[in-house]
Amino acid sequence: MKIFVAGGAGYIGSACSEYLLNHGHQVTIFDSLITGHKEAVDHRATFIKGDLADRAFLMDVMKQGKYEAVMHFAAFSLVGESMKDPGKYFRNNLCSAINLADAAVESGVKSFVFSSTAATFGEPEEIPIRETTKQLPINPYGESKLCFEKVLKWYSQIYGIKYAALRYFNAAGATENFGEDHNPETHLIPIILQVAQGKREKIMIYGDDYETPDGTCIRDYIHILDLAQAHMKALNAPRSGHYNLGTGNGLSVKEIVEAARKVTGHPIPVEIGPRRAGDPARLIAGSELARKELGWKPEFENASTIIESVWKWLQKHPNGYSK
Ligand code: UFG
Repeated sequence: MKIFVAGGAGYIGSACSEYLLNHGHQVTIFDSLITGHKEAVDHRATFIKGDLADRAFLMDVMKQGKYEAVMHFAAFSLVGESMKDPGKYFRNNLCSAINLADAAVESGVKSFVFSSTAATFGEPEEIPIRETTKQLPINPYGESKLCFEKVLKWYSQIYGIKYAALRYFNAAGATENFGEDHNPETHLIPIILQVAQGKREKIMIYGDDYETPDGTCIRDYIHILDLAQAHMKALNAPRSGHYNLGTGNGLSVKEIVEAARKVTGHPIPVEIGPRRAGDPARLIAGSELARKELGWKPEFENASTIIESVWKWLQKHPNGYSK
């Protein structure tokens, strides 16, 4: 299939592009490189530097390319930043995304796969979180993603374009060639491994007084290759829909630190700090719908293999993509 990948130079977009290319698809990556990296563009893909905010350019490019499918990874994704600068999140994650949806419709794209997030659920009213669980985001990041899920629902109804909104839980892991390189880095696993690399003295655990067995927050870590598998399967989904993507296994911050100690052989000192604002105690996915309707099955079900993949990538890229 001929696929237009917006945000294909970012963390998850680059791994998905590689996966699609490995499976015989034709990929065009469109990325502003504001948070993405030129080095994360697979050499087999066509690359177009551009911003989704540039509606006229985007329309031209998409009409010329005659793509069959769009995958949309191009978004800002820092919860904390979204609480300080909500406009930045609604402009990019909603307004620019509407440009992409319009260009997809006008250029005859049949299938649209959207990177949504567990953050659309806020403090979930049930665990595991199902597709039917009420979505009540508690930050502008989650709200911006939920708004665009709704835009897609209406576009599908009115214009007939098929879509899949894939709600990632905690994306983690690396492929042989592509990994996580954010600046600033805020995610747990990369920060822990910076300690093992000797770049940080210790990891600060944000609170150990949550209502969980060891007091630290529980998350559902899902390997980016499993997310990539879901994207490819979503192209052939029987209908438009929303799918939660996680393994269904919750792991606490302390359990992740312990797993990283085993993988790296480093003692990884920790310090217990205050809670981070906006962190729900537990986020675990119920992914039965993706398994049933998409035929999706995550292959990396334990934390060690996920952490090992990142550790391996860091041996080759100790400073991420920067030289
Ligand atoms: N944590 C620490 N210390 C750190 C970093 C993180 O203790 O230095 C803890 C956090 O408090 C949290 C857990 O590790 O309990 C995971 O934190 P991450 O920042 O790695 O991930 P989040 O669960 O906060 O965020 C993820 C996605 C977001 C999405 C969110 C859904 O990265 O895009 O899940 O709530 F919005």
